[in-house]
Amino acid sequence: MVYNIVKHRMINATAIIPAGGSGRRMESREAKQYLLLQGIPLLVHTLRPFQNAAVIREIILVVPADDVVKMRTYIVDAYSLTKIRKVVAGGKERQDSVRNGLAVLPADCEIVLIHDAARPFVSPALIEKAIDGALREGAAAVGIRARDTVKQCDGAGRVIDTLDREQIWMAQTPQAFRRTTIVAAHQKAQEENFYGTDDAALVERMGIPVIMIDGIPDNIKITTRDDLAWAEYRLSARKL
Ligand code: CTP
Ligand code: MG
Repeated sequence: MVYNIVKHRMINATAIIPAGGSGRRMESREAKQYLLLQGIPLLVHTLRPFQNAAVIREIILVVPADDVVKMRTYIVDAYSLTKIRKVVAGGKERQDSVRNGLAVLPADCEIVLIHDAARPFVSPALIEKAIDGALREGAAAVGIRARDTVKQCDGAGRVIDTLDREQIWMAQTPQAFRRTTIVAAHQKAQEENFYGTDDAALVERMGIPVIMIDGIPDNIKITTRDDLAWAEYRLSARKL
């Protein structure tokens, strides 16, 4: 918990880490979140900045249903991740997994921060920036401004339009929200059977503005073998 200078009070932020996927595109035997990077599970690389960020009071970890029990031993205890208070079963889609995490939020939590387990290069600074955005604006997503020109195309790859690059961002996580906002957005999406590709999209469709926060290019989502090799390289370079 951290003292917020703008609001002159303590804030109570909870992080939800969806790690309930199977990592199909990685084509590995084990789900990608458990693969080792520098001898440590990818998931632990992701969790450590949350453990270390003063602003985070509690972490809710969402994992595949079969893994809930063993996580306590192999992740929480083995790596002393004391802020993980709840380990819950994920659902079919990422959005279902996040919803299961939202269902067990502590009663006094004000700000909810959601971050993909598959993005191990998150930092305490990025976490604080996202929370600051949510405190100011209600909803904030970390992202990267487009560097290349962006073309909107039809199914055959023919250009329909060239978008104004100045207005294009690539959304990442962490994304942070007022608790009431994100809970209502997920509830509405579930009622209407709407699935979005990130949590911000669910808030946007309620007509609530979301502010983009400048992130870091390193904060990639580990999806394929190539990404894993890049992450391994990046981590070894950091040690030099
Ligand atoms: N995730 C989840 N529950 C699901 C699906 C995904 O909690 N039912 C999580 C993943 O574990 C990951 C994050 O959401 O941390 C982003 O998803 P993605 O990178 O697509 O991971 P996977 O779905 O596991 O990978 P793939 O799509 O290649 O199967
Ligand atoms: Mg997926």
